[in-house]
Formats: sequence, structure tokens, C-alpha cells
Amino acid sequence: MQELARYISYIEKEIEAIDFPKSPSNLYDPLRYFLNLGGKRMRPILTLLGAELFGETKENALSAALSVEVFHNFTLIHDDIMDEAPLRRNKETVHTKWNQNIAILSGDVLFVKGYQLLVKQNPEHLQPLIELFNKTAIEVCEGQQMDMDFESRQDVTIDEYIEMIRLKTSVLLGCALEMGAVIGNANDSNRKLLYNFGQNIGIAFQIQDDILDLYADPEKFGKQVGGDVISNKKTLLNLQAFQLASKDQKQILEKLSTEKNLKLKIDQTKELYEVIGARAFCEKEMEKYHSIAMKSLAEIQIEDNAKQTLKGLAEFLMKREL
Ligand code: IPE
Ligand code: IPE
Ligand code: MG
Ligand code: MG
Ligand code: MG
Repeated sequence: MQELARYISYIEKEIEAIDFPKSPSNLYDPLRYFLNLGGKRMRPILTLLGAELFGETKENALSAALSVEVFHNFTLIHDDIMDEAPLRRNKETVHTKWNQNIAILSGDVLFVKGYQLLVKQNPEHLQPLIELFNKTAIEVCEGQQMDMDFESRQDVTIDEYIEMIRLKTSVLLGCALEMGAVIGNANDSNRKLLYNFGQNIGIAFQIQDDILDLYADPEKFGKQVGGDVISNKKTLLNLQAFQLASKDQKQILEKLSTEKNLKLKIDQTKELYEVIGARAFCEKEMEKYHSIAMKSLAEIQIEDNAKQTLKGLAEFLMKREL
């Protein structure tokens, strides 16, 4: 934990040091605001840890680490528009504080800034790094589109859901780690194992995010609690609730999906998911993907000691409240 705190403050300091022009202020103020709101900074830490796992220094992986965090922040600004989210990291979202057009454009700048940071890495690693970054960026968009398409579909399967969260969330965690491995000159097999570790941790992480979206303490969470229920997102909670519900419970759930009183909609859905056993199921699934991830990590041909911080980070993510 203490060790993670050191990585976080290192990343925070370097994020703050990223320089953006003053003008036009409506372009740069929002992205400076957003980037400096904090957040867990877990993706850049994954890149640093990935590099260190293979004997490289964290300093030599810094630009790639920052590029992943900047890219992540770009996706969040746009995600908040798409999800009509009012809050992020306990503060107003960019499209709420400014407006939607400003949020689109300042997000775009962050996307490009991500590339500018990435290409500062040693030229000998640039080709694999850029290939990985490009593939991941497109996959995130695919996942985000599926997420939105699913809002209005009633026949989404659990396999489709897992594929959607793999794309929108998990591939970026895999990418962050694999970038570190590339920078650390890891062999192909170790690179892939580390990517798979990240991907499975990412699936567990998104299932957790879905649970927190409904059950978190609003003070700690920093995002609007119940947002996924309001927009009828197909989360694992939602899909599994329908799987396990009795005929009567199904009818109530269906009725709730069109309920206009949002407080009532959230409160009743929350209670019903719990009664039906959907929450308990999701917690088990989260553990399942966490264990799969641990198997990949165990297979990486490197001494066990080096893996401790990564294990600690994965544990920390499973227990998070924000
Ligand atoms: C939020 O990611 C988006 C998801 C993939 C669930 P984080 O929970 O890592 O957000 P921050 O960066 O810590 O705010
Ligand atoms: C976000 O998923 C995934 C990306 C931003 C690519 P969510 O929409 O669940 O993330 P939060 O809950 O807003 O952080
Ligand atoms: Mg969202
Ligand atoms: Mg979303
Ligand atoms: Mg969410």
C-alpha cells in the first residue's frame, strides 16, 4: 500500500508538469481541470510496474505511462457526455461545468497529447508501442459503442456483456502493462501473459465498477450513484437479475426500466438485485476473473518477488470503494 502511494505521487507530480498553452482557455482549462482531478492513476502505475518487472527503471517508462493516463482521461471526458454523467471524481464533469462541444474538443486534444507523450519513448520500442496503442484505442471505441447499443436491447447475453467490457475497459489495462513489458524488452510469451493478466484484472475491475455504481457510498464514490440504472445499462447485475428473477420479479424489473421517478427506480432496483441474488453473483464473478488473472501472473517467467507490487495493486483494486 505504502509502495503504491509512492507510485501515485510520482505520477501525480508528472501529470501536473504536463504543459498546456493558456489560450484558447476554453480548450485548455477544461482538460487541465480534468487531468488534475486525481483519480486512482492505476493505468500509468501498471506501465511502470510492467517495465520494472523486466528490470527497466520506472523513469524510462514514464512517457508511455503518462500517455496511457492521458488517453484514459480523454475516454472519460467523452464517456461522461455519452452517459450524461454529472459527476466525476467528486467534481462536475467537463460537459456540465462547460458544455458538450467544449468537452468533445478538449477530449480530442488529450487523445493527441497521448500520442505526443508516447512517441517520446526510445525509438527502438516505438513500432510495437504504437501498434498496441492504436489497436487498443479502436477496441475501446468498439466497446463503448456496444455499451450504448446494449442500452436499448433486451436480449444481451452474458458473453456479449463480457466482450463489451473486455473492449471498453480491460484492453487498456492489458495495454498499459504490455507497454511496460515492451519497454522492459520482455519476450513475446511474457508480454502476452502480462497482457492477459491485465485483461482479466480489467474484467474484474469493470464488474466491480458496475457493482459500485449502484451500491457505493456516494461520498466516497465520486460519481453519481445509480447512473447505470437510470440509463438502463446492461451491467452484469442487470443481466443476472433477469436470469435469476421469478416471473413476478421480472415484471417488476421491466416496469422499473421505464419508471420516471428516478429515486424510486434506483432504490427499488437496488433492493431487488440484492434479493434476487444478482449482487452476490457479481461478487463471485469478480473473484473468478481475479483468480484467472493471478494464474497468468504466476506463469510469467520471472522471480516471484518482482510480482508482489502487481499482486498488491490487483488486491487493492478488488477492495476499492471508488
Ligand atoms: C473509470 O476508471 C472508467 C472505468 C473503466 C470503469 P477508473 O475507476 O480507473 O477512473 P479514475 O481514473 O480512477 O477516476
Ligand atoms: C467506462 O465505463 C469505460 C470507458 C470510459 C472507456 P463506465 O461508463 O462504466 O465508466 P464510469 O463508471 O463512467 O467511470
Ligand atoms: Mg460512464
Ligand atoms: Mg460508459
Ligand atoms: Mg461505471
